[in-house]
Formats: sequence, structure tokens, C-alpha cells
Amino acid sequence: MQSSKIGIDAGGTLIKVAYTENESAGYRSFRSRDMDEAAAWIENDFDHPSICITGGKSKVLASKLHTSAMTVVEFDATMKGIDFLAHEQERTLGDGYLFVNVGTGTSIHYVIDGRQERVGGSGIGGGTLLGLAYLLTGMRDYDTIVQTAGDGDRGQVDLKVRDIFEGALPPISGDLTASNFGKTEMMPGRTPANADILASLIGLIGEVVVTVSTNMAAHNNADAIVYIGSSLRSNPLLQETIETYTKLAGKTPIFLDNGAYSGAVGALLSLDEK
Ligand SMILES: Nc1ncnc2c1ncn2[C@@H]1O[C@H](COP(=O)(O)OP(=O)(O)OP(=O)(O)O)[C@@H](O)[C@H]1O
Ligand SMILES: [Mg+2]
Repeated sequence: MQSSKIGIDAGGTLIKVAYTENESAGYRSFRSRDMDEAAAWIENDFDHPSICITGGKSKVLASKLHTSAMTVVEFDATMKGIDFLAHEQERTLGDGYLFVNVGTGTSIHYVIDGRQERVGGSGIGGGTLLGLAYLLTGMRDYDTIVQTAGDGDRGQVDLKVRDIFEGALPPISGDLTASNFGKTEMMPGRTPANADILASLIGLIGEVVVTVSTNMAAHNNADAIVYIGSSLRSNPLLQETIETYTKLAGKTPIFLDNGAYSGAVGALLSLDEK
């Protein structure tokens, strides 16, 4: 009896797994550098599973499995997963929407008539968060970084529009960031706290992602922007920044539960189309 199905998105940083076994279903992720551990779990915990893999590291992972696995194109699998999760969570995406995958880097796609086209991207993503967090504070652990950032004050590091328009009425909202990490006048002799630096770093990433994404949405006449990727996992600060700035640009931000598993869910669904 072949009752287990496994969909895997093997990305640059994390391996995401979505599975169904008999009546139950679940999600699990591993660091991509712990690929052997992921392969061993798949081999040992499932009985004759059907497996479909997507993502940049799909070929490497497939070569480590004894069970043969199908591979599918990542961007199409991701679209399929988003469509499924949105439907399950009763979220309407409308006709012609954007999805933005904030993974190690960021990839932007326009979906219309059930097809996706990659319309842009940015090297600024979750890898930037981990890399710059380490270089600026010495911290390496993702959860510690996002938790520390939660107590931070961006006002110690970033220059707001109102900081420039001292005593005068600014032509745009004084609350907007005029310059990320731009509060340089205060910096010599007073290094901001790690929490403040990390909060600003997350702000920088979120604002860049939104600027590129909302421009792409305007260009394609799309209203809804679905943000996915593990960089949003347990990261309310990034989610809030993205939400606020997307709304400011007049677009509708959408976050799906388990959105980080869109690619894995899409790979799982592809097994039924064989
Ligand atoms: N436990 C974790 N360990 C490391 N990074 C994490 C963890 N949880 C969330 N992240 C964040 O998620 C990012 C990776 O996101 P995601 O899994 O979507 O990318 P990926 O699929 O591996 O990469 P890509 O699609 O670009 O190949 C990391 O760069 C980091 O910012
Ligand atoms: Mg990915």
C-alpha cells in the first residue's frame, strides 16, 4: 500500500517538506547543510513513499535518496502550492496577482490565467539578513536574531524624513525612512545596540523587498501581493514592515499560513498529476 506522499522544496538555505501519511499531514524543515539528516528521516520514517522534489538543491537531495523521486520546476510548483494554500485558507487572490518569495534571495512572479512569469527579483533577502546580522553583531542563529530585533528601536539607526525636515513641514510623511542606517551623525562614539541594528536591518530588507515588489505590481496592474518564504517565519517585524509599506503603495499584502511551504506543497500536489 502506497499511502505516504512527500513534497520537498530543497532551497539554498532550508529544505522544506510537506507530507501526507494515511489520514494525517504535516510540515517539517531542515537546514540545507543537514541534507543527510533530511534524507535519513525521509528514508526511515515513511513506508514506500511517493516523492516529488523541487528547488535549487533538488538534484543533490534526489541523489541521496534510495527511493526514486520525481523532480518539478520550482516556480510552477510554488504557484500551485500558493493556489492550494490560499484556497484552503479562504483567501482570494484575484485575477492577476504577484507572489514574492523572500528566500535566501528574493524572486518576484506575476500569475495570470493559471500561469506564472518571473518578472523580477533582488539579491536582498533572508540570506542578507543572516549575513549582515553576523557581520554587524556576530549573531548567527536565526531565531535569536529575529527575537533580538523585536526589542530594537530603528530610530537609533535610521534617518526618518522628519529628522531631515527639522522644524519644517515635510513634503511626504515624516514617518518614512529617509535613509536606512543613515543616522550617521549620532554614530561615532555611540554604537547602537544590537537590537537596534537588527531592527534596522530587517527594516532595510523589508523596505527594499516592498519597493521592488510594488513597482512590479504597478507595472503589471496587479493588486494583491502574496509574500512567502521562510524569511517571514517567526519574524513579525519583517511581516509588519512589508505589510505597512505595501499598503502605503496602495497594494494588498497577503500572508498565508505555512506560506514558506508553498513549493513543497506544490511538489506534493504534482504527484497526483503523474
Ligand atoms: N531555522 C532557520 N535557519 C536558518 N534560516 C532561517 C531559519 N528559519 C527561517 N530562516 C530564514 O529563511 C531564509 C531562507 O528562506 P527559504 O527557506 O524560503 O529560502 P530557500 O528556499 O532555502 O532559498 P532559495 O529559494 O533562495 O534557494 C534564511 O535566509 C533565513 O533568513
Ligand atoms: Mg526557496
